[in-house]
Formats: sequence, structure tokens, C-alpha cells
Amino acid sequence: MTLNVLVVGAGVSGPAFAMLLQRSNPKHKITILERSPTIRLGGQQIDLKNQGPHILRQMGLLDEIKAKCVDETGLEVVDSKDKTIARFGVAPAGQRRPGLTSEHEILRGDMVQVLYEASIRQNQSIKAQSEDPDTGLRYVFGQTIVALDQRENDNVDVTFSNGEKKRYDLVVAADGQWSHTRRLAFGEETSKAAFRSLGIHAAYFSLPRIENEATLAKAHLAPGRRMVFTRTSGRPVTGALLFTMQKSEKLSGCYRESIEKQKEAFAEAFRDIDWQADRLTSGLKSSSDFYAHELCQIKMKELSTGHVVLLGDAGYCPTPFTGLGTNLCLVGSYILAGELARHGRSNISAALRSYDEKMRPFIDECQSISPTTLSLFFPSSRLGIWAMHSLAWAVASFSERFWQGQEELKDDHAEKLPMYPELNLPW
Ligand SMILES: Cc1cc2nc3c(=O)[nH]c(=O)nc-3n(C[C@H](O)[C@H](O)[C@H](O)COP(=O)(O)OP(=O)(O)OC[C@H]3O[C@@H](n4cnc5c(N)ncnc54)[C@H](O)[C@@H]3O)c2cc1C
Ligand SMILES: *[C@@H]1O[C@H](CO)[C@@H](O)[C@H](O)[C@H]1NC(C)=O
Ligand SMILES: *[C@@H]1O[C@H](CO)[C@@H](O)[C@H](O)[C@H]1NC(C)=O
Repeated sequence: MTLNVLVVGAGVSGPAFAMLLQRSNPKHKITILERSPTIRLGGQQIDLKNQGPHILRQMGLLDEIKAKCVDETGLEVVDSKDKTIARFGVAPAGQRRPGLTSEHEILRGDMVQVLYEASIRQNQSIKAQSEDPDTGLRYVFGQTIVALDQRENDNVDVTFSNGEKKRYDLVVAADGQWSHTRRLAFGEETSKAAFRSLGIHAAYFSLPRIENEATLAKAHLAPGRRMVFTRTSGRPVTGALLFTMQKSEKLSGCYRESIEKQKEAFAEAFRDIDWQADRLTSGLKSSSDFYAHELCQIKMKELSTGHVVLLGDAGYCPTPFTGLGTNLCLVGSYILAGELARHGRSNISAALRSYDEKMRPFIDECQSISPTTLSLFFPSSRLGIWAMHSLAWAVASFSERFWQGQEELKDDHAEKLPMYPELNLPW
């Protein structure tokens, strides 16, 4: 009962899912297709919380991930003179505390690399003992798909960008919030309707570190609905995160253009910011890992159509502001692999229905942030900023007192996951 699966996208969810599926049956044929010529290591810090650390532990990767985690010691909100307004600590993995820093934070590139390398190690160590040369896991870089055809029942006929055609039992779209596979499978209209913009433009890149720059992250609110974070932790470079709720045609349109154009649009939007303006705009221009996107949530009524299924940001992007995107990717990878292993090749449709059903509570929880709440974090005037500073100060001092002397809460996130003995995980 082996499956022939195509996974589109080698970000976080593609390799994680592939590894879990392969563990359930080493004879599966799994192809991971990545549009870039290599894995994409861009991005800044991502949080690992809720079920994420537990799933990584099951996969035998938590120690390796922990070793790569950054050691950010908390967050300071600063005014335009760099004076501290409020300070937040680190939230232990099981707790919901205000602040930015989680116990496990890792650079996206490190996370992607660990998963990619682990998937190759696992593939090498599993002796498939199969005559079929296609057995196992393989990566195909520098290619994408241009057409999907599901007219033949229970099969997906895929046309690749090099003109090749191949038939699969299942196609997994793990190609991120702009998923091209989602568009091909569900149609332009459904795919577009699923995209809920939060009206926030975001850019992430690395800056040269200033000597003695603190391991504490800094957040600054600026007039014109702009927010900037710098995050250094123990690294030799500083991560910069720019967010703006400005309505700007130039920003909205830049994502379809070159990185140079995107940099230009962001440089213009942040040129006159009242904190670290020179450092940010010149750093932005010379950065080699610049990544920008419009923040959105993806809300799909169905996570699959026929034998094409959505995984990770492609199916249920919660937005980076929740800090839960990676968690949702890992939960999705685990449940999808688990359901496929349980139902087998003869009943892929039942597996996909069950995946959809079981994902809903996790998706709803991670997407519960409202655009209205978010917009409060982007005051337009100095008065609004003053109000936010007062609020930040109050929350920081209240939460400090509140958490003092509190017992560590028990982390019960793992208990919410369904169990899949079929995945052959240690549990
Ligand atoms: C370069 C980059 C930087 C990011 N930086 C941050 C960050 O700093 N902070 C943050 O919170 N989130 C960031 N994100 C988003 C974050 O990775 C996701 O929210 C989360 O990890 C979900 O992962 P995913 O695997 O579903 O999607 P992604 O991590 O987005 O991975 C999707 C993968 O699919 C590939 N792909 C896309 N289209 C195609 C196609 N048509 N054919 C084949 N392959 C395709 C992409 O190149 C990418 O490797 C970033 C994403 C990327 C791609
Ligand atoms: C996975 O293993 C198979 C053999 O079992 C091999 O043909 C294939 O190249 C390996 N894939 C990777 C990505 O190393
Ligand atoms: C597929 O699974 C569903 C639900 O578990 C079940 O009702 C159906 O009979 C199964 N079909 C086959 C062909 O096994």
C-alpha cells in the first residue's frame, strides 16, 4: 500500500511532513519540489510553541533545534530617544504571557536547514529494501508545476515547468501563503477569496550588529502606523523587522516585482522614521536576506479538493503576528501524515476529510487574532503612541507582578494532539 506523493515546497512543512510520512512506511515514494535552486534560508526569528516542540521531540529533532535557538532575553519598548518605556521577559514554552520572546526561538533558516538535513539522514538510514528505484524521498530543485489534472479518478496528473508529466496518488501543497498549487487546484477565485489581508506590510532582513548591542529585542512605534523591531540575541548580526499599516499602492504592488523594487518601496516608507532611520534604511538596501510580504490569513472552507491537499501557510496561514505559523505547520504535517498512514492508499479521501476535521480546532485557535486588535498596535498619531506606551508600561508591570511566584503552568498542548501509532514515533 505504498503512496506516490508529490510535495510542493521545501519550507518548514514540506520536509517535516515528508519525514513523518516516510517513517510510517519506508516504501512510500515521496518527491519534494522546490521552485528555488536550493532551500530558502531567509527569514528572521520564528517561535516554537504549543505543540511544536513536542512534535519535534517525537521526530528526534528537539535537541538539535534547541541547540540552534537564539538567546533573546526579552523585549524593550523604546521611544524615539531610545529610552525604555516597558520591558517584557521570556515566556516559558507552556505559558501565555504578554511579550515577544518565547522560550524556543530559532531563525527560520536554521529550522528549514535542520529539517532538510534530517530528512536526508532519515532517508539514508531507512533501508527501503525495494526493487523500485523511485522508493524513498527525493528533492527536485529549481522547478515548479504548471498544471494539475484530476480527471482520472484517484490520480493527479502533474505537468512540471520543464514540460515533464507525472502521475501521483496525492499532491501536497506546502508552497506558502501565496501557494501556486492552491490556485491551480482550487481555481483563481476560491484561492483569492481565501486570502484575508490584514493591511500590514512586513519586511525582514539582517543588519550589521552595533558593538555591545543588547541581547534584548527592541520595539519602537512610530507615527504613520509604523512599527520596528530589532533582535540581536547572541548573534553576530541584528535582525530587523519593519511593519506598517500605511495604505500605499507602492507597497501593495511591490511583491510581484523584484527584490530591488521591494527594498525601494520599504526604504521609502521608513525613510523618515524617528528611530534608527539611517541604520535601517541603509541596512535594508545592502541586506542579502531581505524578505517582504503582505500579512494575511488564509481561510479555506476545505483543505483539499480531490487528491490535492493544503499544508501549512498554503492552507491556514495565521500571520506571523500570532507567532504560531510554524506550530501550525508542524501540527498539520503530523496530522496529515498520521491520517494517511491510518487510512492507507485505498482511502485517501477519508484521510483528507479526517485531516480537515482534526485541524479545525488548531486552525481556529491560531487564527483567533482579529484585524481590529492588530490595528491598535499601529497608532497613527503621537497621542495614539503615547496611549500605547502607557498600556505597554501597565501590562509589563502588571504581568511582572502576576507571574512572580506563580507555579510553572503544566504544558498540556501535547495532549490535544491525536495519537498515531501508525507513525512509528516513540511517543
Ligand atoms: C524566504 C522566507 C522568509 C520568511 N521569513 C519569515 C520570518 O522572518 N518570520 C515569520 O514569521 N515567517 C517568515 N516566513 C514565513 C514562514 O516560513 C511560514 O509562516 C511558516 O514557517 C510556514 O511554512 P510553510 O512551509 O508552510 O511555508 P514557507 O516557509 O513559506 O515555505 C514555502 C516553500 O515553498 C516554496 N515555493 C513557493 N512557491 C512554490 C512553487 N510554485 N513551486 C515550488 N515551490 C514553491 C518556497 O520557495 C518555500 O521554500 C518566511 C517565508 C519564506 C519563504
Ligand atoms: C533517498 O534514498 C534513496 C534510496 O533508498 C536514494 O535513491 C535517494 O537519492 C535518497 N534521497 C536523498 C534526498 O538523499
Ligand atoms: C473509507 O473510509 C470511510 C470512513 O472511514 C469508510 O466509511 C469507507 O467505507 C472507506 N472506504 C473504503 C473503500 O475503504
